[in-house]
Amino acid sequence: MAYVDLNDSIIAQVRGAADIVDFVQQVTPLKLAGKSYKGLCPFHREKSPSFHVDRDKGLFYCFGCGTGGDVFKFLTLTERFTFPEAVEHVASRVGIELPKRRRAQRDNDKDDLLELMDDASEAFHQALAWTPNAADEYLKHRGVPQDVIRKYGFGYAPESWDYLLRRLGQKHGEKKLEAAGLITPRKTGNGFYDRFRNRLIIPIHSDTGALVGFGGRALDDSEPKYLNSPESELFNKSRLLYNLHRSKDAMRRFDRAILVEGYFDAIAIDHAGVPGVVASMGTSLTPGQASLLRRFTRRVILAYDGDNAGRAATLRAAPILLAAGLHVEALDLQGEKDPDALVQKHGADKFLEVLSNALDIFEFGLREWASDAAQLSGREKSERVEQFMPMLSAVSDPVVRNEAAQRIADAFRLEFETVWSRVRGKAAPAKTVERSAVAPIGAGEKFVLTAALQGRLTREQLGRLQEEFFEDPACKTLFSIIKNDLVTGDPIDFAKLGAHLRGEAELTLLSELSLSEEIDDRSLQRLDENLRPMERNYLSRRMRQIQREIIDAGNDGERVARLDREKLELSRMLQSLK
Ligand code: CTP
Ligand code: MN
Repeated sequence: MAYVDLNDSIIAQVRGAADIVDFVQQVTPLKLAGKSYKGLCPFHREKSPSFHVDRDKGLFYCFGCGTGGDVFKFLTLTERFTFPEAVEHVASRVGIELPKRRRAQRDNDKDDLLELMDDASEAFHQALAWTPNAADEYLKHRGVPQDVIRKYGFGYAPESWDYLLRRLGQKHGEKKLEAAGLITPRKTGNGFYDRFRNRLIIPIHSDTGALVGFGGRALDDSEPKYLNSPESELFNKSRLLYNLHRSKDAMRRFDRAILVEGYFDAIAIDHAGVPGVVASMGTSLTPGQASLLRRFTRRVILAYDGDNAGRAATLRAAPILLAAGLHVEALDLQGEKDPDALVQKHGADKFLEVLSNALDIFEFGLREWASDAAQLSGREKSERVEQFMPMLSAVSDPVVRNEAAQRIADAFRLEFETVWSRVRGKAAPAKTVERSAVAPIGAGEKFVLTAALQGRLTREQLGRLQEEFFEDPACKTLFSIIKNDLVTGDPIDFAKLGAHLRGEAELTLLSELSLSEEIDDRSLQRLDENLRPMERNYLSRRMRQIQREIIDAGNDGERVARLDREKLELSRMLQSLK
């Protein structure tokens, strides 16, 4: 990706050629409502649609959470693309060829590593065909069928210090093999040896399907049970989920992910034909993994191990998922060790049954921490209630948070306020919503700017309105860009406009204002009421500035006189506005 040379005009061209409705529809269904399309916002949870998309302007905006922008912004949010990646993606979809730039050395290096990983995988795969070999025996013993071995690309790292080194050292060089985490320097300081020895090899892919690392399972009781690729440019465990490349489409389609801990759990569920399963690969879930999931789904069902450790891990993972804006549920494995064991013993149908009985995570927490509530002392109750705080405060939707707090209060037979008083203070506020709600300067300025965008300013108003009247920096920039078109009466070219807007805030503002409803005639009569204070504030600001300049001018008589004249003029204007 990103071997292209992007400039404003090509960006505007791609933006203009893309149908934003198409791109949004892949993520959330839209309905035409008046001039724009409406649907449920993919960026926050809501029951009635406040997410608007304007096909002609190429913009989206959610009046619920304040997220907005153009098609590229949409893709950077939903697909986690970088901006250039988003432009490339859209360009290829609409059939525009982007000018190529010379590939950077880093891109070449990365490609080399990816090729090396493929070669290594092939080498492991070939070793698994040897007869006899320990991994093959292990798989037979574990009852893993041939089609699973093929589908998931298993391999065997032989019991040798230099199997890979000998196979790939010539072609790729020791440096690359080391960078890919396939060999390790000897303690003595000269030479290298294979990292994976006598292990079953499970290839791990990125969300796009590139092979980026391996998990190696011990074939006996030796420790560690799993040895994974070390962190590298390719392999960043906190941003990877095992099996994501096979699951992401289904996750989107069913708006659901099943999150398990182990490779074999994911494989058992996936192979049984239950779509949308990924594994966090054991280590505690990271915010990076949570936001990776959020790209594809709004709902996650945790299916960790059924023992105490698994339930504890479930409740530790929950706040991280909730904080990413995901709806979280968890499974009760009914005494089975893990999903793999459940599927092996009772079949996929049993798993589906368990899945359909998934509990809301707060309900799951109540079973864990409140089942003996009646027998608890006040102090014990207090400690248990405290356990819920990470989860409660991770929920940004105030309605959901409130309802969960109520359920917890009920379970412990406490007053709602007793629980709620702890949540307050800790709760993560729904930032975007609150920011747009408290915008005392913004409101009047936004109204005036909206009227301008809708072509509803009179000549006289347009003549009076100056860039400097706007205090909000985004409003000011936006106005300065559209001002010329307004004065000449030319229609505003939204595809081009976006190219001039570099800041996040400005693009969001443009979306908000462009997608706001037509201002009705009655509101329009109050335009002057909004314009006048802006003008007044500007004049007062200018007045204070002149006052400072007069002091600075000291005894530069000529300059002081000029400033005095301007001051007088300003105070006359101010007077006339009162
Ligand atoms: N894991 C790891 N390193 C370890 C142990 C575990 O990376 N030393 C990761 C692996 O991704 C593993 C997951 O944590 O799949 C879950 O660990 P565990 O439950 O111990 O393994 P199982 O899934 O039960 O593995 P198996 O079925 O092969 O015994
Ligand atoms: Mn397990």
